[in-house]
Amino acid sequence: MSENIQSTLVEDRLFPPPAEFSAEAYIGDRKVLAELCARADADHTGFWGGLAKREISWDKPFSVVLDESRAPFFKWFTDGELNVSYNCIDRHLASRGTRPAILFEGEKGDRRTLTYRDLHTEVSRFANALKASGIVSGDRVVIYMPMIPEAVIAMQACARIGAIHSVVFGGFSAESLKDRIEDAGAKLVVTADGGNRGGKALPLKAAVDKALAGGCPSIQRVIVYNRCDLQPAMKEGRDVWWHELCATVPALCEPVAVGAEHPLFLLYTSGSTGKPKGVQHSSGGYLLHAIMTMRWVFDLRDSDVFWCTADVGWVTGHTYVAYGPLACGATQVIYEGVPTVPDAGRFWANVQQLGVSIFYTAPTAIRALMKFGDEIPARYDLSRLRLLGTVGEPINPEAWMWYHTVIGKERCPIVDTWWQTETGGHMLAPVPGCIPLKPGSCTTALPGISADIVDEEGTPITTPDAGGYLVIKKPWPGMLRTIWGDDDRYVRTYWGKFNNRYYLAGDSARRDKDGYYWIMGRIDDVLNVSGHRLGTMEVESALVAHPRVAEAAVVGRPDPIKGEGIFAYVVLRGERPAGGVDVVLTKELREWVSEQIGPIAKPDDIRYADNLPKTRSGKIMRRLLRSVAAGQDITQDTSTLENPAILAQLKGEV
Ligand code: WTA
Repeated sequence: MSENIQSTLVEDRLFPPPAEFSAEAYIGDRKVLAELCARADADHTGFWGGLAKREISWDKPFSVVLDESRAPFFKWFTDGELNVSYNCIDRHLASRGTRPAILFEGEKGDRRTLTYRDLHTEVSRFANALKASGIVSGDRVVIYMPMIPEAVIAMQACARIGAIHSVVFGGFSAESLKDRIEDAGAKLVVTADGGNRGGKALPLKAAVDKALAGGCPSIQRVIVYNRCDLQPAMKEGRDVWWHELCATVPALCEPVAVGAEHPLFLLYTSGSTGKPKGVQHSSGGYLLHAIMTMRWVFDLRDSDVFWCTADVGWVTGHTYVAYGPLACGATQVIYEGVPTVPDAGRFWANVQQLGVSIFYTAPTAIRALMKFGDEIPARYDLSRLRLLGTVGEPINPEAWMWYHTVIGKERCPIVDTWWQTETGGHMLAPVPGCIPLKPGSCTTALPGISADIVDEEGTPITTPDAGGYLVIKKPWPGMLRTIWGDDDRYVRTYWGKFNNRYYLAGDSARRDKDGYYWIMGRIDDVLNVSGHRLGTMEVESALVAHPRVAEAAVVGRPDPIKGEGIFAYVVLRGERPAGGVDVVLTKELREWVSEQIGPIAKPDDIRYADNLPKTRSGKIMRRLLRSVAAGQDITQDTSTLENPAILAQLKGEV
């Protein structure tokens, strides 16, 4: 542990909020923020209860704020009832029915605007389509869609009738889709023929067919949206077209009130075992966390045009596309494609043309676009931007400075937001009107979020810059409620280490002398590739499933664009390839992993060895493998290696 937690970054530049920004900000004064935090500290439930009353439209008010009787299975606003879709759509109709909710831009340049009224109609219709397909409250619906408004419409429609959605990222393979459908026991899949990505029509329905052919007995119906005219085969009695089904159902669908703890969605994410876990979120608490962070961190105002570039397949696309902006009545941009079509100016062209004022993306995208040079963003008018944000991985100070100067013209604060699929929304993030920024730090905990850094025993670490485990010491409304179908795994993964006292985030972090948090990386076997979580064991299981592979170990390797790249060591059944090189097999294995999991999981490099470096007790020496992958000198003790000769093979020495 301690070896994993060493900090190397020293960054002492400080960027105070621009006065013009603070003057208009939701919270523009550090004293006000400090008071808010102090109030939350003194009365945690009173603080969150008050916000929940104010920010959410309840069908039935709650009397209990927090039920801790079955901790760590915490419940919030337990006896309250609400409908999330009502809160995101219906309640805005009177005041802003004609305001654009979604400004959609297809990769090919096609545009659509959906007002709140339009969204109301579309969501209601699709909710009726789900009902007509036999979906009732509590049923699971898998959504496997491109980044088009219908993805959000499908999610909102589920929320409207109390169905639990589980969105699977369109980049995941048929195999991954099948696993998730089966684990969730979903009754229905919503998909499209395909989506436009990278100048191509990426087929989706074909992957659904493949997944269903291999299992998924619970699926009764597949609803297919026609996006690309790919004319997929439609299975009689199972598959229906979105537009045909919607034409036959009523336009009105009343939102159904559900309990605050009713599951809103499951979202599968990687952990340290081979099997992704279905993180289960609630309705009331989750919605409140989404709303509060839209205000505190994104400083949302009525005049803003908000754009979060995340796909709905990730948690960021849930909280800051499908729910948060709509719950606050905002206007937001949804973009279908990749940032480099037709060229690397696409994001900035969208910002200019759609008048984006708040822009939220991943460091990996910033690094990739930075590579194309300053001339490209310079072609666009980015003067409407007033706030920038990052999420998913630490941002290196160089990329931060580029974002700050070239995109934000030194005028826009940057909110570096630390959070997780499990936390539901931002946890450590600056309140941009009053917190001075340090490039690479997610600054401090938000009001009502009780973060700390502790040592192996759970004792808080107070020495500045000393690394430790990042923990959250009190429950918060947006937290995950459990892992779908696996309560034990929930307790073990997040609460076991510190005896149910603290939530273990799985990240290491340090706090500097000013109390700013610096995330240092995962403490488990989870990789962060382009801001996406991937378990090393998942990739290993995929490799081992190949008939020629006997054993595999996967580690991360620093990558200038992706943050982390995937490096695999493989032991074959039979002979190691001559000289350790087999170009054909390497290509085949990379494709294989891509098919098993998805293109994001493709190993960048594969090295063949006669066996893996293990200690005498049989544990794979991952740290050693990481050093080898990074091309670093081996500082670890290799004396316990069972077969010291393989070091040369691992290093790629012939
Ligand atoms: C990492 C994404 C540094 C972290 C919302 C966390 C970050 C994991 C940041 C969660 C950040 C996320 N700085 N690291 N601002 N944000 N991470 O579940 O390791 O896809 O545990 O949620 O991403 O990834 P997830």
